[in-house]
Amino acid sequence: MAHFQENAAMKGDPKVISDLNEYLSFELTGHRQYLLHAGMCRHWGFERLARIQDAYSAEETQHAARIIARILMLDGVAAPRDFRPIVGAPTVPEQLALDSELVGGAIVHLRTAITACEQSRDFVSRDLLREMLDDEERHLYWLETETALIDKVGLENYLQTQTTT
Ligand SMILES: [Fe+2]
Ligand SMILES: [Fe+2]
Repeated sequence: MAHFQENAAMKGDPKVISDLNEYLSFELTGHRQYLLHAGMCRHWGFERLARIQDAYSAEETQHAARIIARILMLDGVAAPRDFRPIVGAPTVPEQLALDSELVGGAIVHLRTAITACEQSRDFVSRDLLREMLDDEERHLYWLETETALIDKVGLENYLQTQTTT
């Protein structure tokens, strides 16, 4: 039984746990920022954008839940350093820019954290963060595509296409 207990308790590398907590901060910030942007878009009548922002907010909640589970599995404490104030950007282009900034920061952090996981041979955390990186790269691609569309067709024309889903 002692043997079983030794294997059951997995001590994670403190650096990996710290990196997971840092990503958790991005997730919780994103969750609230996109929720707020969704509400503002809906209030302005841009239902298509509101639904997409709702979906991204929900995605960050799912990411956060998986990160918390991993931290606990590593016998760590889930303690996000989440002091970032949430301020909804006042226009759609500014929302897209603010979200791009956050997602871009998360991507930079994830790439560093994935390397740290490899160095400590924590391949499960590495694979988890790779999945998150895949989602965040898609997220950034969506933000950049919408921004490019606004530049191409003009803001008024773009917003007219956002009122239906
Ligand atoms: Fe995420
Ligand atoms: Fe995201």
